[in-house]
Amino acid sequence: MAIIAPSLLASDFANLQSECEMLNKSEADWYHIDVMDGVFVPNISFGMPVIEAMKRHSEKTMDVHLMIVQPERYIKEFKAVGADILTVHYEASTHLHRSLQAIKAEGMKAGVALNPHTPVSLLKDVIKDIDLVCLMSVNPGFGGQKFIENTYNKVKELKAMIQETGSEALIEIDGGVTSANAAALIEAGADVLVAGSFVFKSSDPIATIADLKKF
Ligand code: DX5
Ligand code: ZN
Repeated sequence: MAIIAPSLLASDFANLQSECEMLNKSEADWYHIDVMDGVFVPNISFGMPVIEAMKRHSEKTMDVHLMIVQPERYIKEFKAVGADILTVHYEASTHLHRSLQAIKAEGMKAGVALNPHTPVSLLKDVIKDIDLVCLMSVNPGFGGQKFIENTYNKVKELKAMIQETGSEALIEIDGGVTSANAAALIEAGADVLVAGSFVFKSSDPIATIADLKKF
């Protein structure tokens, strides 16, 4: 059974408290929280004060995905507002190993996200230091995009690397996840499914989360 992490990027920001209460009641395992800076990605979402506000109403793991340049500048700040898992982009990290150590030193799980064009093989020398690999199955920056099919190959390659090295990293899929691809992703080796639009734009988000949880 996969870990389900609804992305609050697609939630109603004017009613965040009720969106959090809905997630608490649902079978969702984590909150997936997308931070964008308008530089690493061509969009700006929200930052620390909004996460701090969500945290006040959250009863679940806070999975924070940083789509920002030089993410190492803000590791302590994201811990302070409630992040349990902090994911940085490979493409935004010159000293990735140092960033992973710094995230863990703050008591958080350390994640690395890969853009669709970034090969999984680039993680070989740090895979044992990573708690979560987030494979982007769309180009980061926006919700509601179409799933990129090559993701299946990346999941399989990453799963093999994890098994060969004895890494304990979880594989998270982010972007365009729906009930149409969830089963195949889990079959390929995914552990965590992020879903934004599919959950929050559905007429019954609690039932939609329960459906994803069944795969
Ligand atoms: C994209 C974000 C995703 C996004 C997923 O840059 O990282 O987490 O919210 O949204 P959907 O599920 O709508 O593709
Ligand atoms: Zn994300």
